[in-house]
Amino acid sequence: NLLKIEKEPIRVLVTGAAGNIGYAIAPMIARGIMLGPDQPMILHLLDIEPASKSLEAVKMELQDSAFPLLQGVITTTNVDESCKDVNIAIMIGGFARKEGMERRDVMSKNAVIFKAQALALERYASDDCKVLVVANPANTNALILKEFAPSIPEENITCLTRLDHNRAQARLAEKLSVPVSSVKNVIVWGNHSSTQYPDTSHAMVSTKTGDQPVKELLVADQKWLKNEFITEVQQRGAEILRARKQSSALSAASAACDHIHDWFLGTPKGNWVSMGVCSDGSYGIPPGLVYSFPVNCEKGSWKIVQGLSIDEFSREKMDDSARELAEEQDLAYSCLNL
Ligand code: LMR
Repeated sequence: NLLKIEKEPIRVLVTGAAGNIGYAIAPMIARGIMLGPDQPMILHLLDIEPASKSLEAVKMELQDSAFPLLQGVITTTNVDESCKDVNIAIMIGGFARKEGMERRDVMSKNAVIFKAQALALERYASDDCKVLVVANPANTNALILKEFAPSIPEENITCLTRLDHNRAQARLAEKLSVPVSSVKNVIVWGNHSSTQYPDTSHAMVSTKTGDQPVKELLVADQKWLKNEFITEVQQRGAEILRARKQSSALSAASAACDHIHDWFLGTPKGNWVSMGVCSDGSYGIPPGLVYSFPVNCEKGSWKIVQGLSIDEFSREKMDDSARELAEEQDLAYSCLNL
């Protein structure tokens, strides 16, 4: 317990905090699932004015939970105030597409929101602030944030594709009838959209006799791996939306915790995870795009896993998603008159 008191609290901003994902993630963070069991935190919860009453309720419930690691909760509808000295920013709030809206309308609304939030982070956040964008279109929102918060190091700006990574891992475990924890090194390449490419070429299953490649274990299921599996992972968000009439929330919150946890505390040796990060040109992906890659993390920094073989099938899918992201980038920039 002394250790707890010794560590300085980390300030964690959650935007869209009164929403579904916010409500699911706040207790996960406060319980230490995101930052570890000895790391205290202060939560900065932001939402828009119409949600201010629910936001207060979230704060009351957090207080009533008496989480030992939670050293404070700040609620506000003011973006500047919410960003003050934050070390981690989890950007969940955004404008959700409504029926009949064109892609361009959604993009322009989110581009404006993310520009404003970027300017606030640029001005008020801690210099080493690490950012995770969850709100869709997540990759492109992260790109806008990078554009308007130039003093935040670009490697600190990421987006969530761990949800897709976890979905792929879980689906393989189900197919193979093995525990989900024994499946490792799936990859999600590209955009957090239906063009994402869940790649099993390098995935392994740990068994008592050592690691075995998934493609060998599923040698009779190559068609499934290249078709249904990919479509199911790509469409899982839509499937949940149909079933729940709302986007996935608990799995999104859990994946966001996994993303930050592994970024801060590291990935186990020999294991990688998928993160949307700024491309440095690795694997022929245009530099500057926020693209999901396999990464290894250590003490708060990530590195793209290098040297993986890419076959023709993968190449095409990776390029398709990069193309979609380049189009999104053009659209976002034109919405912002850049
Ligand atoms: C998901 O993957 O579940 C969400 O990003 C889907 C969505 O559009 O909200």
